[in-house]
Amino acid sequence: MKELLVVDAISVSYGNIRALKEVSMRVYEGDIVCLIGANGAGKSTLLKAIVGLEPLVEGTITFDGETICTANRGRHLTTDLIASRGIALVPEGRRVFADMTVEENLDMGAFLVRDDNLIAQRKEAMYDFFPILGARKRQKTRSLSGGEQQMMAIARALMSGPRMILLDEPGLGLAPLVVADIFEKIDVINKQDGVTVFLVEQNARMALRASKEGYVMENGRIVLSDKAANLLEDEKVRKAYLGE
Ligand SMILES: Nc1ncnc2c1ncn2[C@@H]1O[C@H](COP(=O)(O)OP(=O)(O)OP(=O)(O)O)[C@@H](O)[C@H]1O
Ligand SMILES: [Mg+2]
Repeated sequence: MKELLVVDAISVSYGNIRALKEVSMRVYEGDIVCLIGANGAGKSTLLKAIVGLEPLVEGTITFDGETICTANRGRHLTTDLIASRGIALVPEGRRVFADMTVEENLDMGAFLVRDDNLIAQRKEAMYDFFPILGARKRQKTRSLSGGEQQMMAIARALMSGPRMILLDEPGLGLAPLVVADIFEKIDVINKQDGVTVFLVEQNARMALRASKEGYVMENGRIVLSDKAANLLEDEKVRKAYLGE
């Protein structure tokens, strides 16, 4: 098994607040890995740091053996370059362009792709995979339901042809059946297309069931990491995150 993403002792600060404290984790190619934790634990900050949106105070992040983020600005890649290496973030709250059509949103996701035929091919693949997007491709995104917008945000990330997608709370604010649908899609993207998945979720049970490995974050630190199946059985996890 090959290490795809390695986060090595990174810290991130917002002013005097240290949001991440020497966080280390690794994701092997082809896996689904989740990160669970309470509100404000630092989950989104970790995803943003990985794609270069938050500067590191210390530590390094490597992707496929290449250093992509360091506290040393000279060796830190820009967000565009990080995306071009094959990492795509589906941000928290979906952040779709509400006044653009579905198709225009997908085009935005392909901004680094130069080949128009490839873009057209990928769009067709997305419309096949998410039929609702195909049916609504010329409609403004704001007319889609929350679940459909989440599907679109995922499709938009896939338009770049990533090796790894980072998903920030894909189930947030959605009905359980819709969340189940989204997790099913994520599983297909992983199993059929071989895309490595790093998933942040407050719905710890869904996330751990879908994942091979899991990490638990509290106050900016990783406090537990194990096979997801073991975390589901862990006394502390059950009490704090599974409501048992
Ligand atoms: N732009 C910012 N400026 C200042 N503080 C911030 C900023 N973004 C996040 N924080 C703080 O950093 C900490 C971690 O926030 P983060 O958004 O990473 O948590 P989270 O685990 O994603 O939470 P949630 O589950 O609510 O999305 C919190 O204390 C938060 O208030
Ligand atoms: Mg968050």
